[in-house]
Amino acid sequence: MKALILSGGKGTRLRPITYTGAKQLVPVANKPILFYTIEAVMAAGIHDIGIVVGETREEVRAAVGKGERWGVKITYIQQDAPLGLAHAVKISEDFIQKDSFVMYLGDNLIKDGITSFVDEYCKSDANAQILLAHVPNPQEFGVAQLKAGRVVKLIEKPKDPPTDLALVGVYMFDSTIFEAVNSITPSARGELEITDAIQYLVDHNYKVQSHIISGWWKDTGKLEDMLEANRIILDGMETSVEGEVDEESEIAGRVKIGKGTRIVNSCVRGPAIIGEDCLIENAFVGPYSSVNDRCIISASEIEHSIILEDSQILSIGSRLEDSLIGKNVKITKDSKKPKAYRMMVGDNSAISVV
Ligand code: G1P
Repeated sequence: MKALILSGGKGTRLRPITYTGAKQLVPVANKPILFYTIEAVMAAGIHDIGIVVGETREEVRAAVGKGERWGVKITYIQQDAPLGLAHAVKISEDFIQKDSFVMYLGDNLIKDGITSFVDEYCKSDANAQILLAHVPNPQEFGVAQLKAGRVVKLIEKPKDPPTDLALVGVYMFDSTIFEAVNSITPSARGELEITDAIQYLVDHNYKVQSHIISGWWKDTGKLEDMLEANRIILDGMETSVEGEVDEESEIAGRVKIGKGTRIVNSCVRGPAIIGEDCLIENAFVGPYSSVNDRCIISASEIEHSIILEDSQILSIGSRLEDSLIGKNVKITKDSKKPKAYRMMVGDNSAISVV
């Protein structure tokens, strides 16, 4: 069995962070989402992985490399334009050949991994297996309709969803999927939809098996989803302190502090992770915070936020909460007159002031 991980797309809902980087590389608990995907695939016993890349290919390649870190073999497959998930399958036929495979969308996170689903599919005689989850907002997903447990209809982002069963971004296929992706036509949004390809399998009497998952799953396309994913992962984290914590500081709950980091006269209340070579001084880092490498948090309070590499939060007057701060960002309070907000902010940013 092989795996196909999709890591293209523009990440429009996470701009401006994704102007300068791939959405699959945004970190959750200081680790890129894509790495959780690779690890889940590997844990399912699959070592031959194709990654479909688009505009952000260089960045994805630089982060993942050839897969040596995980002991897997990575093959990159170039998708020249974002023409849909089924198009990604279509251009991967040379890589997949006659094998069956699991397709995993690189921005999806499934807390309990995919091993049991892959095993279930391998033991069955199904041509495809889809995973479904009950969601409150089915209109934002592919939606499935079942009849006596069998998949009868799949619709991509319906305005009026017939059920609340969303398609999770993990699919298992055998090579009949190539017949499907080569037969369907583009949808109204101009993409070859994987949802339509699976509907083709249903309509042509191929066996499509479904599994309703009960564990936590997230498509991390938006800020709230990133923060929720960050909470879930931090909740399962073990304590480990490799940096230095001075006597005036207090560390409470599950906290991970990386090498070279100094905690000076501060309080870190977990679950929280602080990367390597950071300085936290006269500060409070509250629950559900992920602070990446080489950040400085000084005379400030943060909570329930993700802060990427090389950023600085210095002497801000109030607490920073529910935020995603990009790389190399500096937030300071300045005492210059007139008293005013002074900002240099990129396109598509969102700031709420008090
Ligand atoms: C894609 C699929 C959709 C599926 C979702 C899961 O949507 O088209 O059917 O439910 O992934 O994450 P996208 O997130 O690309 O809009």
